[in-house]
Amino acid sequence: MLAPWKVTCVPPPTGAVRWVTAFGSGSSLMCASDEAQVHALLSSQLRSGGSTLPLVESETGRARRTLMFAGSVVIFQANGREDPCRMSCALVTHLAMTVTFDGKTAMVTGGGSGIGKALCLELARRKAKVLVTDIDEAAARAVAEGLGNGSRAVRLDVRDAAAFQGAMDEFADENGGLDLLFNNAGIAIGGELHELTLAHWDRIIDINLRGVVHGVAAAYPRMVRQERGHIVNVASLAGLGPAPLLVPYAATKHAVVGLSMSLRIEAAALGIRVSALCPAAIETPILESDNPADLPGTTWRPNMRRFLTRLGGPPYPVDKMATEALDAVADNVAVIVLPGAARMAWRLGRMLPSLVESLAGKAVAAERADKVSLVKTSRS
Ligand SMILES: NC(=O)c1ccc[n+]([C@@H]2O[C@H](COP(=O)([O-])OP(=O)(O)OC[C@H]3O[C@@H](n4cnc5c(N)ncnc54)[C@H](O)[C@@H]3O)[C@@H](O)[C@H]2O)c1
Repeated sequence: MLAPWKVTCVPPPTGAVRWVTAFGSGSSLMCASDEAQVHALLSSQLRSGGSTLPLVESETGRARRTLMFAGSVVIFQANGREDPCRMSCALVTHLAMTVTFDGKTAMVTGGGSGIGKALCLELARRKAKVLVTDIDEAAARAVAEGLGNGSRAVRLDVRDAAAFQGAMDEFADENGGLDLLFNNAGIAIGGELHELTLAHWDRIIDINLRGVVHGVAAAYPRMVRQERGHIVNVASLAGLGPAPLLVPYAATKHAVVGLSMSLRIEAAALGIRVSALCPAAIETPILESDNPADLPGTTWRPNMRRFLTRLGGPPYPVDKMATEALDAVADNVAVIVLPGAARMAWRLGRMLPSLVESLAGKAVAAERADKVSLVKTSRS
């Protein structure tokens, strides 16, 4: 049986509603600056799965609407005391954002390996229907085969905007819409920047940034029409701080974080969620990868596994990361930093940027020293 939801609009003495907070499964945090916006948000919630009793005026002149959701009671406060209201919003945000993946449709790019594959497996375990996409079609198919729930695979190079749109449209049309898009496909290019060419820059921008842009351009307008959806852009801890010897990579990931955080705010009132997933080193094949073979060679490149371990600790298991990432997506976390130790380090680093600079500088020096010793060893 559906539990009743109540949303009570309490106009402040000045008459302007400041904040609305709804919590319970199936809902989302709603913030509004006027009553019309409150009602628009409520109607969008209703269209995405609730039902309602008519809006009523209480004896105190308060507008009241009772919603029926598979969730619990919702109260909002709007009494003109902005700071306390904001605080109460923050306190209930965790509850407000929780959703489930059961029956949802999810598209994942770069789903044939590593983080993308782990996200596909975890989404399917939580009963989502997944479209696994990858430039490596065989890898995508191998992942999709084990998923069930009507999941399937398609080859997709995220650099191809038209192909992205086509794959997304077909999947969404077949399944009554798209609930989740994980813009995950990405590559790493490393080395001393003075040895990297514009071709290196173009390649990584095309995949790591334009690939994400293509996903957003394909899915976001549809999600706005649907009045629901969540875009999760896989950035990196390298998108939140310095990543020397990985400068083009860091540049694309910072851009993805900026895109995500800006769109998140723009999209919220339209019922769409946007998150940036920012993992530290995760145990995936990217740690063993080299720069793309068809690009000009460099005299050396940092050993990704060793260097990232120096920067942020040993790689974290990818399946654990995917579980924690989806928990955070369900909670609509804005910037999902994983694992927890990296999150702590990131928070500390924001307070102590000079410490970050000093530690990263030491990691670079150690990596360069190892390069030199390798050269000596190979000569001896
Ligand atoms: N593993 C880590 O330590 C780590 C940390 C932070 C962020 N990330 C990010 O996570 C994402 C996934 O990386 P991963 O570690 O799973 O690497 P991975 O190499 O295991 O997987 C990347 C996948 O992307 C696919 N891909 C590459 N180019 C593509 C293209 N043009 N179109 C479509 N698919 C393409 C590859 O075929 C591969 O299946 C990347 O965006 C990466 O930057 C990884």
